[in-house]
Amino acid sequence: KRTHLLVVGVYLLSSCRAEEGLNFPTYDGKDRVVSLSEKNFKQILKKYDLLCLYYHEPVSSDKVAQKQFQLKEIVLELVAQVLEHKDIGFVMVDAKKEAKLAKKLDYKAFEEAAEHFQPYIKFFATFDKGVAKKLSLKMNEVDFYEPFMDEPVTIPNKPHTEDELVEFVKEHQRPTLRRLRPEDMFETWEDDLNGIHIVAFAERSDPDGYEFLEILKQVARDNTDNPDLSIVWIDPDDFPLLVAYWEKTFKIDLFKPQIGVVNVTDADSVWMEIPDDDDLPTAEELEDWIEDVLSGKINTEDDDNEDEDDDN
Ligand SMILES: *[C@@H]1O[C@H](CO)[C@@H](O)[C@H](O)[C@H]1NC(C)=O
Repeated sequence: KRTHLLVVGVYLLSSCRAEEGLNFPTYDGKDRVVSLSEKNFKQILKKYDLLCLYYHEPVSSDKVAQKQFQLKEIVLELVAQVLEHKDIGFVMVDAKKEAKLAKKLDYKAFEEAAEHFQPYIKFFATFDKGVAKKLSLKMNEVDFYEPFMDEPVTIPNKPHTEDELVEFVKEHQRPTLRRLRPEDMFETWEDDLNGIHIVAFAERSDPDGYEFLEILKQVARDNTDNPDLSIVWIDPDDFPLLVAYWEKTFKIDLFKPQIGVVNVTDADSVWMEIPDDDDLPTAEELEDWIEDVLSGKINTEDDDNEDEDDDN
């Protein structure tokens, strides 16, 4: 049985009417509405198809306030009685006493966090137990999937507020390896690493390109914790109209895999020497090369004077 969890306010009371026309039912005196706590939460969720939650402030010791609260409770009991046969449950949540639970039940944070990153980062929610199990997702857990990584990262300290989610995503937003996509190529290009991009060209439909991409993925997985590294992978097949332009600008042959550093200011670039496509660099060799790029040992500036010398 699938359990749907709906968070609804009191406004529901006015729309939950007895179905028997004008015969207004009377309360039979049986207690159905329970106070929801972290302890009974799971058990109650299992019991009903639909759960209506009534959030309330802590009831003060004031006599009038207590009387008012009792009245609300009776109204809720009556609604619960009327809808009992439909497997709809009614519970009350003390928003202060059960602050942690109240926060846990608040999916709004996730939705609102998602709005910050539209449409570049996709947010998915599942309400299906089977799907959640396949993804080994627990209740209210948010997993962050970085492109090309085998395992997601579970965002710690659930349940999360909108701000916590936004902060985490911002911090982890730049992947170690990202595919340049036509739909967000400008955003990707603007997100440079101190004025440079490490760019790899690899055609997935080509055996050498495919193998090179696998090596890149390996390097990305090994270096996923390095915040300074982000390789932009371009599949020339995605940009047929730009291939000639790139070959001319970067002075490279895009029929074979390439990796290089591009200065985003002047499009000056240096490319790793891959003498033979049958002998692609190993992950270790690629890592050494990347290290030299990140340390500045390999850069686009050193050969600039040589170029001038050549011209003279
Ligand atoms: C990129 O090129 C500009 C212009 O030639 C230069 O001033 C800058 O230092 C270069 N940046 C890097 C990181 O090499």
